Amino acid sequence: MRSIKKTLCCLLLVTLPLGIFVLCLWPLKPHPTVDVNYRISSISENLLKHKLWEPPEKYAYIPYKVKETVAGLLPKNNCRCDKEEPVLKLPFMGHIFPQTSVHQFQQVFNDAEQEVLKKRRQQEYQRFLERSHSPADALIIAKANSPLEYPTQGLQVRPLKTIMIPGLSSQAPPRNLYRVNLTATLGTFDVAAEVDQVTIEGVGQMHLSLSSSQVDNLNRQLQFVTYTNTVFNPNTADTVKFETDGHQAFFVIKIQHATIPKLYISEDQPGYNISALVTIVTKTFLRYDRLRELIASIRTFYPKVTIVIADDNNNPEKMEGPYIDQYFMPFGKGWFAGRNLAVSQATTKYLLWVDDDFIFTANTKIEKLVDVLEKTTLDLVGGAVREKTGFATTFRHQISVEQGGEEGDCLNIRMGHYHTVLDFPNCVVTDGVVNFFLARTDRVQRVGFDPRLSRVAHSEFFIDGLGMLHVGSCDHVSVDHASKIQLPWNKINGNTKMYKEFRYPKSSEASVRLRHGLFYLKNRFKCMIKN
Ligand SMILES: *[C@@H]1O[C@H](CO)[C@@H](O)[C@H](O)[C@H]1NC(C)=O
Ligand SMILES: *[C@@H]1O[C@H](CO)[C@@H](O)[C@H](O)[C@H]1NC(C)=O
Repeated sequence: MRSIKKTLCCLLLVTLPLGIFVLCLWPLKPHPTVDVNYRISSISENLLKHKLWEPPEKYAYIPYKVKETVAGLLPKNNCRCDKEEPVLKLPFMGHIFPQTSVHQFQQVFNDAEQEVLKKRRQQEYQRFLERSHSPADALIIAKANSPLEYPTQGLQVRPLKTIMIPGLSSQAPPRNLYRVNLTATLGTFDVAAEVDQVTIEGVGQMHLSLSSSQVDNLNRQLQFVTYTNTVFNPNTADTVKFETDGHQAFFVIKIQHATIPKLYISEDQPGYNISALVTIVTKTFLRYDRLRELIASIRTFYPKVTIVIADDNNNPEKMEGPYIDQYFMPFGKGWFAGRNLAVSQATTKYLLWVDDDFIFTANTKIEKLVDVLEKTTLDLVGGAVREKTGFATTFRHQISVEQGGEEGDCLNIRMGHYHTVLDFPNCVVTDGVVNFFLARTDRVQRVGFDPRLSRVAHSEFFIDGLGMLHVGSCDHVSVDHASKIQLPWNKINGNTKMYKEFRYPKSSEASVRLRHGLFYLKNRFKCMIKN
């Protein structure tokens, strides 16, 4: 009996931490005038209502049982960032499991500031909603048993142009007179052809009435109905009402300019000509020795690729050599300002971001990353950065946002990724990567690097780009890191010391205030939880 207890105890001791370890690694299951004024109506409330789950009033007499496992996954608009306490407290836990840190953003402001700034943020947010809201986002439900046939989605008209409306018909039961109406708000109706025994009223107007004693004639006429957009207000939509006696339906016609592509045409040749396809971009500050090492290592493998350098040093030194564009900025303009400048000067299809203390090796095969972007719809793909210790980091992180009501939303950053990329077993999709990435130039330029973030910043770019950038990460391409892990016996020269003071300022209070302030006011987050 005692030995069984002992064995059980031992077994538990071994399996419990293992079980917790496996559990923790388990991936998460996953008219003549046009109204362009801000209305500041209850637009945000309406949007919210549609996104939050609430059972409709209809059939309220039938009881239901909530399935918490599923209902819990629905958006609630009351998110919080709380510190998660580990299930088991063991001394070595910190080394195995990533530590979670929680940051509350409004704390960088005092009470008086909070009041004023929150109000201003709300105003700006309302305007943002107005700008980004499209009538095509509205939820429209096609009621059952309607004799009406109509297109529910996929109609598009160029501003002030005309289209045929496909798919209109009425399947009404036999009667003496069949009638249908069409009503629009941003355009007019007409018919491209006329059919016998059909009465048409309202041609060239926003309200068209068709009637006939013959249902087939009416349906034939409906095949020729056209819509002309008359209010120039691109990037909106007209919600058309289609009705017959006792029934109505709605469908949406998007009003849109053509999307203008931004293409980079390169020579047709076998393989990838990296010099023609890629610009290497970097930002340097107080580390010319490192930068020279980087350039030399790049030239070993890519003698003709253009290198763009943003430089905000006090005593600038000119980097000599062909295919080098060095842009001098006012002293200490900062990290993101420099990245923004460097990225703005890339003219090739892709840009490769590197830090000024990276070193190219035989493993730094840009071709492999180009191959991923050429063959997938990804916009940006990160590689691995190998530290001096031999440890390579891809710094993959998942970014998500939960609704948090009036106080702002919650930002959630977790180390990890989603799926593996098909045909690229070394690559995964994720939301953010390390400082070594190849990206479509125009996509990165669209997101931009907020120049207000002058010192410590990285994930901010990926947060601003969430939903705009389709991000991947591959570990079969790496670059070496020359510094970062500063060993105590390494001599610290004057510039390194100054670099550290600028990049990782001791008076980090100001830096925290800046970053948290931007999260709170610009991104409307109230807090962040990350590991
Ligand atoms: C169609 O419109 C006409 C005139 O606007 C109106 O009198 C009629 O009631 C409408 N018919 C239906 C079915 O809504
Ligand atoms: C690659 O592109 C560069 C820059 O456009 C060009 O000068 C070079 O001749 C190209 N190389 C080959 C092999 O086509």
